[in-house]
Amino acid sequence: MTKRVAIIGAGPSGLAQLRAFQSAKENGEAIPEIVCFEKQDEWGGLWNYTWRTGVDQYGEPVHGSMYRYLWSNGPKEGLEFADYSFEEHFGKQIASYPPRAVLFDYIQGRVAKAGVRDWIRFETVVRRVEFADGKFTVTVKDLPNAREYAEEFDHVICASGHFSTPNVPEFEGFDTFKGRVLHAHDFRDALEFKDQDILIVGTSYSAEDIGSQCWKYGAKSITVSHRTAAMGYDWPENWAEVPLLTKVVGNTAHFKDGTSRDVDAIILCTGYQHHFPFMAEDLNLRTANRLATNGLYKGVAYVHNPALFYLGMQDQWFTFNMFDAQAWWVRDAIMGKIAMPDKDAMLADVADRVAREDAGESDYDAIWYQGDYIKELIAETDYPTFDVEGACQAFKEWKGHKKQGIMTFRDNGYKSVMTGTMAPKHHTPWKDALDDTLEVYLQN
Ligand SMILES: Cc1cc2nc3c(=O)[nH]c(=O)nc-3n(C[C@H](O)[C@H](O)[C@H](O)COP(=O)(O)OP(=O)(O)OC[C@H]3O[C@@H](n4cnc5c(N)ncnc54)[C@H](O)[C@@H]3O)c2cc1C
Ligand SMILES: NC(=O)c1ccc[n+]([C@@H]2O[C@H](COP(=O)([O-])OP(=O)(O)OC[C@H]3O[C@@H](n4cnc5c(N)ncnc54)[C@H](OP(=O)(O)O)[C@@H]3O)[C@@H](O)[C@H]2O)c1
Repeated sequence: MTKRVAIIGAGPSGLAQLRAFQSAKENGEAIPEIVCFEKQDEWGGLWNYTWRTGVDQYGEPVHGSMYRYLWSNGPKEGLEFADYSFEEHFGKQIASYPPRAVLFDYIQGRVAKAGVRDWIRFETVVRRVEFADGKFTVTVKDLPNAREYAEEFDHVICASGHFSTPNVPEFEGFDTFKGRVLHAHDFRDALEFKDQDILIVGTSYSAEDIGSQCWKYGAKSITVSHRTAAMGYDWPENWAEVPLLTKVVGNTAHFKDGTSRDVDAIILCTGYQHHFPFMAEDLNLRTANRLATNGLYKGVAYVHNPALFYLGMQDQWFTFNMFDAQAWWVRDAIMGKIAMPDKDAMLADVADRVAREDAGESDYDAIWYQGDYIKELIAETDYPTFDVEGACQAFKEWKGHKKQGIMTFRDNGYKSVMTGTMAPKHHTPWKDALDDTLEVYLQN
């Protein structure tokens, strides 16, 4: 009997898994039957932009957290696929910080070439995953036809992402604030905040990038409130960093140091939750957003039931090529080419990863930690080896460029670790490039 494998989600992680199985098939290997369930009507996960917020046309929570004018926040040289370079896709080398539409096009190129679209059941949401007698029962809903059905699988690979269910703290006075309060998940167009004084809560990538977007598209001022520490970049003159918000009275935001300022809108860039409402209690991954995920052997196999895998659940320096490294490893574990140890050894592996991450002291340690993780996985499969060290160096340069100029770092270029070619300088500085379409970006 051919094994059956369910993949939940056709974002970059789920698509990496489809490509991994397809590449084994291309090499003449007998692969399991693959069914990928995707609740949206298109692949690409977060990269598939939607104007919608709240619920979609079927009343399902909107997955998308991406916004208009989003450009990659890290150099593309850190995420390039080892089996499908930017040059192969675009026919030339391109600049280092592509806008969303350009990366979406790149992601689609590889899977279109692989011919795996037929393996995906679109507009089909996974409602429930349960395990009994050695099999998973996956209950799904075919949304356009409002038809619920269940199928059995030998393995489930959950690739449903973890930057979609917002973490939404409440602050005193939100209920009477006169402006708009929203989470980054619902942010779509920076032009909405043109000429406004905005307050951002949080100091990570969403805070930095949504603030920068609003600055670029004409917000009057940006105030960023931190819980732990300020970001500390050399910000433009209409940008301020303040301690944590304590309360809002009318339109006045008050901060922990006793200062206050009037604001028109508040954007909570307070991160996301790992949220798997469809998983039975005994299959549900519980982890913080960190590099060493809790409960996953080799960062992918669920220790309490290693027939179940989770992809892409780590916090992310590396993205697409890390998802590939995971997907190739999971494929080989399912196809019996990689042996799984007993539960004690898996738990020890998780504890060791946590301890090693905790021993790191800086962002550089974290980058190299994740780079080493990728090397470890690809050494065990036939995923094309690549210069992971070179990609770590690109991230290091990127961090240096951000310190030099937070509104100019995207004007730099880096060398591809896949093809060895240098990215051209982009034709327009990021702060002046208001048109983020693929056509305009590729005009180099
Ligand atoms: C605002 C934002 C900007 C980002 N920018 C960058 C960037 O510049 N560079 C970078 O490398 N990374 C970036 N990321 C990180 C991002 O996490 C990864 O690039 C990537 O999208 C993760 O892929 P994924 O497949 O794991 O998850 P996702 O992209 O989230 O895809 C998950 C898929 O699962 C589907 N799904 C979820 N639940 C179900 C269900 N119950 N049934 C069926 N299908 C389901 C969803 O519809 C979706 O298609 C960004 C993230 C955010 C939030
Ligand atoms: N252009 C882009 O490419 C782009 C843009 C946006 C996001 N992203 C990606 O999106 C992902 C998610 O990033 P993120 O910034 O949304 O989440 P995140 O990295 O998890 O950061 C969450 C932030 O929220 C703060 N926070 C959480 N709860 C809080 C509370 N109760 N009060 C005050 N502050 C609180 C945290 O502060 P502490 O430090 O105090 O914990 C932290 O600063 C990342 O992978 C990122 O790369 C990319």
